[in-house]
Amino acid sequence: MALERCELLCNVTLFLLFSFFVVGEGQSKGFRKFNQVQDTRHRVVSEEQWFTQKLDHFAGADSRKWKQRYFVNETYYKPGGPVFLMIGGEGPANPVWMEYGTWLTYAKKVGALCLMLEHRFYGKSHPTIDLSTDSLRFLSSRQALADLAHFRTVMAETRGLTNSKWVAFGGSYPGSLAAWFRLKYPHLVHASVATSAPVFATVNFPEYLEVVWRSLASENAECPLLVKKASSTLLERLKDPKTYDNITKDFNLCSKLQIQTEMDSAYFLEMLAGNFMDVVQYNEDNRGFEGVQGTNITIKVLCGVMGDTSLGEPYARYVAVARLMMDTFSIKCLDASFNNYVREMTNTSWDGPAAGGGRQWVYQTCTEFGFYQSTDSPNQPFTGFPLVYHVKQCADFYNVSAEQLAEAVAQTNEYYGGYDIRSTRIVLPNGSIDPWHALGITQDITPDLPAVFIKGTAHCANMYPARSEDLPQLALARDHIFLLLQKSMMISPVGPRDGVLGTPNNFWKLCAVELAMKHLSLFCLYVLVTLYGHKGVLSQTPSYGERGSDLGIQVFQQVVRSKPLENVVLSPHGVASILGMLLPGAHGETRKQILKGLRYKKNGPYRMLKKLHKTLTAKSNQDVVLIANAMFSQEGFPMEEAFVSTNKANFQCKSRDLDFSNPNVAADEINEWVNNKTKGHIPNLIKADMLDPALTRLVAVNSIYFKGLWKSRFQPENTKMRPFNGGNGNVYKVPMMSQLSVFSIGIATTPQGLKYKVIELPYHGNTISMVIVVPSEEDTPLSRVIPHISTATVQSWSKLMHMRKVRLLIPKFTADAEVDLEAPLSALGITDMFSQDKADFRHLSAQPVHVSKALQKAKVVVNEDGTKAAAATTAILLARSSPPWVTVDRPFLFLIRHNPTGPRYYSLYGPDQPAVSPAITGQPLVAS
Ligand SMILES: *[C@@H]1O[C@H](CO)[C@@H](O)[C@H](O)[C@H]1NC(C)=O
Ligand SMILES: *[C@@H]1O[C@H](CO)[C@@H](O)[C@H](O)[C@H]1NC(C)=O
Ligand SMILES: *[C@@H]1O[C@H](CO)[C@@H](O)[C@H](O)[C@H]1NC(C)=O
Ligand SMILES: *[C@@H]1O[C@H](CO)[C@@H](O)[C@H](O)[C@H]1NC(C)=O
Ligand SMILES: *[C@@H]1O[C@H](CO)[C@@H](O)[C@H](O)[C@H]1NC(C)=O
Ligand SMILES: *[C@@H]1O[C@H](CO)[C@@H](O)[C@H](O)[C@H]1NC(C)=O
Repeated sequence: MALERCELLCNVTLFLLFSFFVVGEGQSKGFRKFNQVQDTRHRVVSEEQWFTQKLDHFAGADSRKWKQRYFVNETYYKPGGPVFLMIGGEGPANPVWMEYGTWLTYAKKVGALCLMLEHRFYGKSHPTIDLSTDSLRFLSSRQALADLAHFRTVMAETRGLTNSKWVAFGGSYPGSLAAWFRLKYPHLVHASVATSAPVFATVNFPEYLEVVWRSLASENAECPLLVKKASSTLLERLKDPKTYDNITKDFNLCSKLQIQTEMDSAYFLEMLAGNFMDVVQYNEDNRGFEGVQGTNITIKVLCGVMGDTSLGEPYARYVAVARLMMDTFSIKCLDASFNNYVREMTNTSWDGPAAGGGRQWVYQTCTEFGFYQSTDSPNQPFTGFPLVYHVKQCADFYNVSAEQLAEAVAQTNEYYGGYDIRSTRIVLPNGSIDPWHALGITQDITPDLPAVFIKGTAHCANMYPARSEDLPQLALARDHIFLLLQKSMMISPVGPRDGVLGTPNNFWKLCAVELAMKHLSLFCLYVLVTLYGHKGVLSQTPSYGERGSDLGIQVFQQVVRSKPLENVVLSPHGVASILGMLLPGAHGETRKQILKGLRYKKNGPYRMLKKLHKTLTAKSNQDVVLIANAMFSQEGFPMEEAFVSTNKANFQCKSRDLDFSNPNVAADEINEWVNNKTKGHIPNLIKADMLDPALTRLVAVNSIYFKGLWKSRFQPENTKMRPFNGGNGNVYKVPMMSQLSVFSIGIATTPQGLKYKVIELPYHGNTISMVIVVPSEEDTPLSRVIPHISTATVQSWSKLMHMRKVRLLIPKFTADAEVDLEAPLSALGITDMFSQDKADFRHLSAQPVHVSKALQKAKVVVNEDGTKAAAATTAILLARSSPPWVTVDRPFLFLIRHNPTGPRYYSLYGPDQPAVSPAITGQPLVAS
């Protein structure tokens, strides 16, 4: 037990708890065989495979070889996609990671091949015949990195992955390896996600227990004080051998407590402190998927016991905590004998009791990292296991002196740089309650070395599979990490298939993430609101105030932030419309929140929405924009007359009766209606399971269909497969449309001096156009330009734009998006309408209802179609000199906007609103 905390293991195995198992069975205390703990719940699908490695990578003449274990999951791999490499750590590689874990969800998004390589000397990867000190000379992080490098090289050659981008993943010590792999072998690893990585080696690590104090205190300020009191009492009693019988009984020790040396007491005290250390390190995480037990023992539970006065004095509560842990892990008795521990740790056989990783990992701490969690700080709750207790073990187990240890640790920092990492494309997540974050990076080093510091989460939490009870910031962090991978790391999404690019959807979903700021809306937009009766849910859609371009940006940012993996094409108009449809039914705080969110003046909303609606559906736009709104209500659901008539007047919103008691039929009917209204572009807006046969009362739908016919069409015969620079270093062949014509073009500059081109392509009718934004310089990432795009920027472009004759080449593509608006609207303060208890729609119906779901779908199609042949073309062809080419062959952003002729607020797509745009960033376009 003594050392477990040193093992940082998160990703592949769990060391700490193993020790408990061991202790419990009274066999070996230190480290149990990992395979005993390996997952029992899931059938492991991934077959182990073997790779031939050199024993010593740094001795050219030494040709000894051994077999290293690895696993492969090709399920998500798409040719051309990246390769994800999960780095094994200080325990057996657990194949359950080949089936579960956040990295697989990332892999799915980008079509990655997933590999996991077990660390030398752990699990079944045995480079030597035993674990003698002489053999352990070949155990080091440097040798492990060289294993990774050789594995990477050979796998790339044999599997044809030389041109793929390799991304390393790891948590805890493997997290450090992931960072160092990128640092030391930048030509082999494109990017790394180094979770909970202690990058700074230190002999003494008293800060660990300081974080334990703070983590306990964050649950309850009294908690660490009580722990301190109890451990002081225990220390006091250990000074008097007469108490040993009682202590033996209290803690249910396997044999009578014997304290002959400071090492004996330190071992016992550390073992008990370990109850708290382990729980804090892994608090409320989702290791359960690995088959780990006891994950319901949390800081809250322990502090609950420590605060339970009915158990007696703090010492008695401390005893109760130990008993709870023993019960939880089915430990029959606690083996507190340091001598037994030493015997196990010095057994050099592969069958020995500490061969599961204990002996190996402690060797690594003695020869590379230190990391000793001593009680040397006054600001922590425990007593009695000072640094010397740990350092002495290095001598006892491996004949490594304190001086050698100090020198080795200094050398580790010299070799890797400690906190001063000089590299790029390494994402560094950490959790605030995880004591290991004290040795990690919790603030961005550079934009290219971003930290993701997650408040309230434990060791490696972001790597585990997502759960509904995860803290919202943890869910956001997972998404954010993916966003970073995508963005700064330029990981490409699914690559070319059959000579064409990945599906539009995939690609779009990925790129939309990058757009963060302004995206917008589009061609077809559907909004759906479902109202459920009591206990039901109502789903509602997003709405966006047309005045509220700010709100639009906010909604957009919220969506992007909270659902970065989804396609984020958002229509401000759709959001505004749905909220506008619900507004007349709302009362009190529910109404206030909607008004405030939309920033409408008290009496303005209907008028404004009505005007907007009128503008968009004006005759001149009719062949371009079709808006269809409807409310489907449960037969017999009593709706207030005024609500129905207001919507009819403002939105031409028809109300139709449906029977939701048969959700399949009802969903089909709604979908058919939407499909009709969108000319077949959105065939499946809702799924039957979104409707509750007993509770659904109303479904409100807002759909916009935008035909998007160019004013001047592209000739299909000019569309050719041409290269598109993904921004990630990859070049993709995409269908590129071409047209020689006169376009409005300008060059704008960000405050940082980055230039970008703005090109406007008018749609038929002249009132709506697509505006494309693309960085002028090939090496300027779109992500540096996007933050600069705002309402004001969009307005400022008009001054910079001039008509020019050019040959314009732009990709042809289709993008689909679905956005659930509840979270973003809630984040903006529109919360009550989603709450069963608080929603107040008394003007909609006498029956209590609330919004259960707010969903918006959008689809954008960019193709050659136009209403007329490019008239300008002919004229230009006569020109003598050939016109310049403007080629949109790298990530770009586009907005669809309505060119306002009247008051600005008319335009949904107008300069103050509109940037509707999905952008293509970092990814290849896709053929439609
Ligand atoms: C690969 O991952 C998927 C998704 O988690 C899983 O269903 C499948 O069983 C895995 N395959 C292997 C060989 O592990
Ligand atoms: C041991 O515990 C018993 C019962 O709690 C108590 O009466 C006795 O004084 C304790 N012995 C010592 C040496 O503390
Ligand atoms: C934890 O879960 C186990 C098994 O489900 C249960 O027996 C135990 O009472 C739980 N402990 C706590 C503290 O919730
Ligand atoms: C090491 O452990 C193995 C397996 O438990 C045992 O058979 C062997 O006797 C031990 N060796 C020593 C030197 O204690
Ligand atoms: C321990 O190391 C010292 C020097 O590092 C060496 O002189 C000594 O022989 C070693 N002892 C054993 C038992 O290997
Ligand atoms: C969809 O359009 C078809 C053909 O125009 C029509 O028969 C059908 O009733 C429409 N469905 C709905 C739900 O409006």
